[in-house]
Amino acid sequence: MSNQEKMSCERRRLIAATAAVGGVGALAAAVPFVSSMLPSERAKAAGAAVEADISKLEVGQMMTVEWRGKPVWILRRSPEMLESLAKVEGELSDPASERKQQPEYCKNATRSLKPEIMVAVGICTHLGCSPSSKFKQGAQEGMSADWKGGFLCPCHGSTFDLAGRVFKNKPAPDNLEVPPHRYLSDTRILIGEDTQGA
Ligand code: FES
Repeated sequence: MSNQEKMSCERRRLIAATAAVGGVGALAAAVPFVSSMLPSERAKAAGAAVEADISKLEVGQMMTVEWRGKPVWILRRSPEMLESLAKVEGELSDPASERKQQPEYCKNATRSLKPEIMVAVGICTHLGCSPSSKFKQGAQEGMSADWKGGFLCPCHGSTFDLAGRVFKNKPAPDNLEVPPHRYLSDTRILIGEDTQGA
């Protein structure tokens, strides 16, 4: 082997050794960060299912839980709220939930497993703003006299009913998403996982 070849071999060894030291350093720096995360934080970061306790949720009230970084609304609908769903059907863009915005088991008149409980992702299907709740019926700021209750997106005015179905002629193309979910008991819902393994 010539001197020049020997030098080139030596240089390659040096470069490989330096890269290995850098790799160990980077790994050592990453370990304290990962181990400082609580198990639940790690699970959330990975998109694990989230449990919601609805035992204190009163009729007409809505709570929000975070799943995969998204707000998931859980609304306990009153009988009047449920009645409003049939009344607005003619004004909706996809009243029968034909488009794939919910699991098959929520493709029904209330888009839910239990009629009184609505579960939906609170992100507008237009450009992702967060709609505001407008549960009160009738004329009020931004709503017409025949408003039956639902949600209003403040960004471009899309409106949704109390099942998250979008009204016709609005910028949002689809109903709000219903995430996979299932009941662990009467008062506990698991968001992000269902019996079909979703
Ligand atoms: S983002 Fe909701 S209407 Fe545009």
